[in-house]
Amino acid sequence: TWTTGNVIEEQVAAIREQVGSKRAICGLSGGVDSAVAAALVQKAIGSQLTCVYVDHGLMRKGETEQVEKDFVAATGVQLKVVDAQERFLNALAGVSDPETKRKIIGREFIRVFEQAQAEIVAEAGAGGEDVAFLVQGTLYPDVVESGGGTGTANIKSHHNVGGLPEDLEFELVEPLRQLFKDEVRMVGQELGLPDEIVQRQPFPGPGLGIRIVGEVTKERLDLLREADAIAREELTAAGLDREIWQCPVVLLADVRSVGVQGDGRTYGHPIVLRPVSSEDAMTADWTRMPYEVLARISTRITNEVADVNRVVLDVTSKPPGTIEWE
Ligand code: XMP
Repeated sequence: TWTTGNVIEEQVAAIREQVGSKRAICGLSGGVDSAVAAALVQKAIGSQLTCVYVDHGLMRKGETEQVEKDFVAATGVQLKVVDAQERFLNALAGVSDPETKRKIIGREFIRVFEQAQAEIVAEAGAGGEDVAFLVQGTLYPDVVESGGGTGTANIKSHHNVGGLPEDLEFELVEPLRQLFKDEVRMVGQELGLPDEIVQRQPFPGPGLGIRIVGEVTKERLDLLREADAIAREELTAAGLDREIWQCPVVLLADVRSVGVQGDGRTYGHPIVLRPVSSEDAMTADWTRMPYEVLARISTRITNEVADVNRVVLDVTSKPPGTIEWE
């Protein structure tokens, strides 16, 4: 019979058998899959595992701390954090085109991750060749999807910690290959991971970089982080986290509109709320959520986030709109 206990036991045995006395590396993205995969491998081989977290500065408020503190506290995992915020900002400077942003973020991510891998191998000294395994949070639907079939047209170049790296000198460890998302969540819960990680809604690999329409700058990221944190806080408080599949919060950095606040005229940016209901993100409908909650989010964002004087609601389904704006 299928129980999370059995799955964990089975996978721990399989990982031990595969890795033996060698060492493994796992990239953490802050998402559910990589976290649960890492926790399973940690349970199996302990200090033979090193996790890498690339802080690209495009995460939402509190997410990096969740990985650095809560995840480490829950698992005892050895974590190497690479602060690459400057590097990503520099690479993204002057770029507004969505696909170009996606490619830059994906490219920089791979470079930083590979550099971290090389450092881990170097730090292992003479035992460097023992660093032979790369852990990935591949799920059953990913396996099926990449196993042929015609697939859909490539609308956006996706970026995941998943597809790394191309020139494999590492053997893959994929302990979630037989699991669906809800099963991964159950396993994560059983392994004692924090709810904020296990129940996290989908969040794109390129992060807030593709939720700023226009150039990505530090100031705009900070602004969007504040607006997003308010929206998430209110949606959670209203008990809407399950009904809503995800709610991208988007900054229209290239748009300004006239407003009035306090003593005078403002000329600020709009924030877009994009709450969607979906089964699998392939199609989606905009969520008919309560006006009171929308009102609260709007009031708080315009009051609390400097330079934002308007909040608008995206009422487009997918298709024709995608979930993300870029
Ligand atoms: P779209 O915008 O294509 O998004 O309707 C569908 C789902 O995929 C997420 N998304 C991504 N996830 N890397 C990811 O891991 C990406 O590059 C990426 N782009 C979009 C999006 O949040 C939604 O859940």
